[in-house]
Amino acid sequence: MNHKDGSKLGVLIPGMGSVASTFICGVIACNKGLSKPIGSMTQMGSIRLGKRTEDRNPLIKDFVPTVKMEDLVFTGWDINNENVYDIAVRSKVLEKELLEDLKPELQKISVLKGVFDKEYVRRLSGDWIKSGENKLELAEQVMSDIENFNKQSKVDSNVMIWCGSTEVYMEPSEIHLSLSAFEDGLRSNHRDIAPSMIYAYAALKMGIPFANGAPNLTVDIPALQELAKETNTPIAGKDFKTGQTLMKTILAPGLKARQLGINGWFSTNILGNRDGEVLDDPDAFKTKEESKLGVLDTILEPEKNPDLYADLYHKVRINYYPPRGDDKEGWDNIDIFGWLGYPMQIKVDFLCRDSILAAPIVLDLVLFLDLAKKSNMSGIQEWLSFYFKSPMCLPKLHPEHDLFVQLAKLKNTLRHIMGEELITHLGLDDSSEN
Ligand SMILES: NC(=O)c1ccc[n+]([C@@H]2O[C@H](COP(=O)([O-])OP(=O)(O)OC[C@H]3O[C@@H](n4cnc5c(N)ncnc54)[C@H](O)[C@@H]3O)[C@@H](O)[C@H]2O)c1
Repeated sequence: MNHKDGSKLGVLIPGMGSVASTFICGVIACNKGLSKPIGSMTQMGSIRLGKRTEDRNPLIKDFVPTVKMEDLVFTGWDINNENVYDIAVRSKVLEKELLEDLKPELQKISVLKGVFDKEYVRRLSGDWIKSGENKLELAEQVMSDIENFNKQSKVDSNVMIWCGSTEVYMEPSEIHLSLSAFEDGLRSNHRDIAPSMIYAYAALKMGIPFANGAPNLTVDIPALQELAKETNTPIAGKDFKTGQTLMKTILAPGLKARQLGINGWFSTNILGNRDGEVLDDPDAFKTKEESKLGVLDTILEPEKNPDLYADLYHKVRINYYPPRGDDKEGWDNIDIFGWLGYPMQIKVDFLCRDSILAAPIVLDLVLFLDLAKKSNMSGIQEWLSFYFKSPMCLPKLHPEHDLFVQLAKLKNTLRHIMGEELITHLGLDDSSEN
């Protein structure tokens, strides 16, 4: 792996809103010693190596050669001419006092003109938008933005991570099926090519890893997966696993492990940030709903456990409620049953902070995707499912949603990359000490 100390990693972010600004502010605050990167596995997590008796538990950042937080540099695109200080103030996620401390650094990060079309995000409009002959030309403009940024910031490698709004629901179509059809579609301005796909195309064409933090289709199509393979580039997605879905993927595997039945799971949320406003459009909500609903079925496998889960009624609601801003509240009512079918209920009331939960995920994905690229891994990175609500996987597989299986997969992949023994937790005989 050709990682040299001090290499700069340029983080490219289409969609410089609450999540992106909270991530950037957090990294700079930690680098200045003002705070700690809580919630980030790459910074705070450790990993057991070898037998339990060996007592080897290094921090992940000391074990794998990920770029240091101090060596991250940032740029991004959006649809209004702002800098990250303005965005962070407007997003009202972080305290003003902290933002004042970071102001000089944040004001230096201005936002590039976005590739945007209101048809795909109907609730937003802006005046800081690229124009071009066709979608291919827009992709080329994104590529030259990246080249300029890399030159100015002396960047050695890049990762692109979509932190833009959720686009309207789209099904894969003919032009998504092969790279050549997709490129024809770029030239003919085909309406099945959303802005997120144009950024992804630009990144993958340059061999830059791409992660999708929203539930949009984006790289979840054969055409862009073909491009990723062709340019040896890792991709990951989709939709950051934060708040309510995180709780779901913690609770559901536990209930299933104890063979407890579930016949109803009602989830509702209130949130008042710009993301909530975009999701107030039924077509954008449908994209999110699909992403949130798949989770329980794949964890509980009702077809294999009909007595416990065949009658499960699962409902997810998101309600835009401006007074709450980024401080979302998610309620879950779970109707479960136990021995002899006796009913019980679980109520969860999670007063969370959306962007505070998402920011460390952005950090980890950026560092791990860069590691993947430098380890010659390409295509869908299933080991990063841990971070996503709708993990991408090969068509013949079904996605793994169980957080603890995802964690084991992630850590074993790190061991594999570093040539360490994989850990099965078998521990059947004393000599193995597994
Ligand atoms: N915060 C979380 O917990 C969480 C969890 C999962 C997924 N997400 C997803 O992450 C994304 C970002 O969330 P957020 O809270 O930061 O939202 P946000 O509305 O604050 O930021 C999104 C930004 O994307 C911009 N944008 C939209 N289309 C664009 C385009 N084509 N090019 C450039 N910029 C574009 C918008 O102008 C906006 O500034 C959303 O899609 C959200 O659904 C967030």
